[in-house]
Amino acid sequence: MNYTAFVTEELENGDYRSSFNELSIEYLHTNDILIKVLWSSLNYKDALSAKGHKGITRNYPHTPGVDAAGIVEKSNNPDIMVGEEVIVTGHDLGMNTNGGFAEFVSVPSNWIVKLPNKLTLRESMIIGTAGITAAICVNELIKHGITTDKGKILVTGATGGVGSMSVAILNKIGYNVIASTGKIEETDFLKAIGANEVIHRDEVYDRTEKHLLPRRWAGAIDTVGGNTLSTVFRSTDYHGIVCVLGLVESSDLNINLFPFLQRGVSLIGIDSAERGLEIKKELWQKLSNEWKPDCLEYMTREVDLLDINPEIDNILKGGQIGKTLINCKIK
Ligand SMILES: NC(=O)c1ccc[n+]([C@@H]2O[C@H](COP(=O)([O-])OP(=O)(O)OC[C@H]3O[C@@H](n4cnc5c(N)ncnc54)[C@H](OP(=O)(O)O)[C@@H]3O)[C@@H](O)[C@H]2O)c1
Repeated sequence: MNYTAFVTEELENGDYRSSFNELSIEYLHTNDILIKVLWSSLNYKDALSAKGHKGITRNYPHTPGVDAAGIVEKSNNPDIMVGEEVIVTGHDLGMNTNGGFAEFVSVPSNWIVKLPNKLTLRESMIIGTAGITAAICVNELIKHGITTDKGKILVTGATGGVGSMSVAILNKIGYNVIASTGKIEETDFLKAIGANEVIHRDEVYDRTEKHLLPRRWAGAIDTVGGNTLSTVFRSTDYHGIVCVLGLVESSDLNINLFPFLQRGVSLIGIDSAERGLEIKKELWQKLSNEWKPDCLEYMTREVDLLDINPEIDNILKGGQIGKTLINCKIK
């Protein structure tokens, strides 16, 4: 059996090139479960993998795509039946295991979440890794006592995948959400998906190096890192929580101890890829019920797998707005 896949190759001159290849199914490493992929979604990490970022993907040729949703085609596990609708987000998918930018993926059983009743496969990939990551952050805020009455929750990189999903989920469950963005022209979009207030990212980019800044946030979900994260940390209120998950601005962090010592602020590291399957299943249930944003379709643009190349360039330039859903059904 042959299938179509987006394949990134390393060239002799050190450059990388991505194209669509017709491959034999044997090309996939043999794992327990073969899935016919119907939908995937675009994440920042996928774009890095497609451009040869060795911190994400060590060996090429490789198919990126950390997200996949589809129908089980073959199964060596009696608990997962042929024909079942399933979701895979994270683990090693799309990193060093061929990923969801293809008609098929082969994965171990313990990466699989069965599609919750109240979700379609399409919706599951609108949510995708970005939504699960946002849900992990929201869960951390709640676990650490940041309830809706505590004050404003800041989301940075708010128009991006994780940012927009964070805004939408927080709004759905009643938080007062402040969206920070470099695309102030997208204020209407951010308000439509649930931001109570939209601010320019310059407002959370302090250049003074003061140890502490005026207290503004009860909690924050920071998708960008760098000086933005340092600013957010120094302007979070007493006993606030800052979820740290992204580095599109920078992976460097210049901080001092005063927000820890004088305000009891905590930085919580988020790694959604390797989060245990049990917590992921729990969060998928929430995302199919009381945490499911009403604006999923509004915040999404559907793109055919064969048209994905320009989307990869756009996300690397910081141009992402909401979610890009990838239709993997080759016509
Ligand atoms: N730790 C985890 O488990 C986990 C999971 C998923 C993603 N991530 C990481 O989280 C980050 C965001 O991922 P994503 O898929 O949501 O990416 P994305 O869709 O590209 O969103 C990133 C957003 O950040 C803002 N931005 C871009 N460049 C910036 C810059 N130089 N300075 C400040 N803001 C900038 C933009 O939003 P505005 O224009 O609205 O400001 C952009 O839309 C990435 O670093 C990704 O690797 C981590």
